[in-house]
Amino acid sequence: MPELAYLNGEILPIDKAQVPIEDRGYQFGDAVYEFIASYNGRLFCLEEHLDRLERSLNGLFFPSVSREAVRKAVLTLFEKAEIQRAGIYIQISRGVSPRNHAFPDGVRPQIVMTIREVEEKPPELRKNGATAITLEDFRWGRCDLKTVQLLPNVLAKQKALAAGVFDAIFVSSEGVVREATSSNICIVADGTVITHPLTPQILPGITRKVVIDLCRELDIPVSERFFKTDALYGAEESFLTGTVTEVLPIVTIDRHRIGDGQVGPVTAKLHETLRQRSIA
Ligand SMILES: Cc1ncc(COP(=O)(O)O)c(C=O)c1O
Repeated sequence: MPELAYLNGEILPIDKAQVPIEDRGYQFGDAVYEFIASYNGRLFCLEEHLDRLERSLNGLFFPSVSREAVRKAVLTLFEKAEIQRAGIYIQISRGVSPRNHAFPDGVRPQIVMTIREVEEKPPELRKNGATAITLEDFRWGRCDLKTVQLLPNVLAKQKALAAGVFDAIFVSSEGVVREATSSNICIVADGTVITHPLTPQILPGITRKVVIDLCRELDIPVSERFFKTDALYGAEESFLTGTVTEVLPIVTIDRHRIGDGQVGPVTAKLHETLRQRSIA
């Protein structure tokens, strides 16, 4: 089960893969990324991740990158590594060029990937639920594009850990609950699953979409609408969604107990169904 890297067409051990110091991803954060997981040797939602990658590339006005070439590279790397439960990180930067803010002429986007075993969330966290704090959102105005500019997310996650909790949830200055540092957030109120609508302020999570579809299939009422911190604190249940996060219950937020402080039935049902689908 080798951990491998892909570097512009070449597959090699991760510690042998190097990028030039004038890569614009390194100097400007001028790069987009995706993270795809596999279950039992099958990639989950590959096409959806490729769709979002294209959307991010277009959103940053990158020169065209062949979707087919990226798909082929992902599949080749996945096949070579033979990791059943893999996490594939894909990063595409605008290219390598002497440092200058303006887009350089005639450079090629740089495609790099790594593949490793997924680091599963601890079973106790899934069983007992996680804790979180809220923080005022201090990110830029295009959080719908999956760029590598993640410093606010990094600082927020670290602040959460320093506060002794699992994660931080970004909230607007008006108190609208947006998303967590690397996942979307849903609440359950009056039996309805509610999540922030798709706007430039949140990432259009693939797992968020899968969960919304599962709700419809399971006849669980679901609504994409704004909600504020008072609704969050007063929710029956709350949970995060993400590729590795899957559906993760949050049972305490800013020291408020959510519902009865236990993992709720809607959260448990959605996680179980998501798992069944992903390993099917
Ligand atoms: C800020 C943010 N929101 C949401 C998500 C969840 O997206 P997905 O379900 O596609 O993994 C991520 C995943 O990286 C993220 O970084």
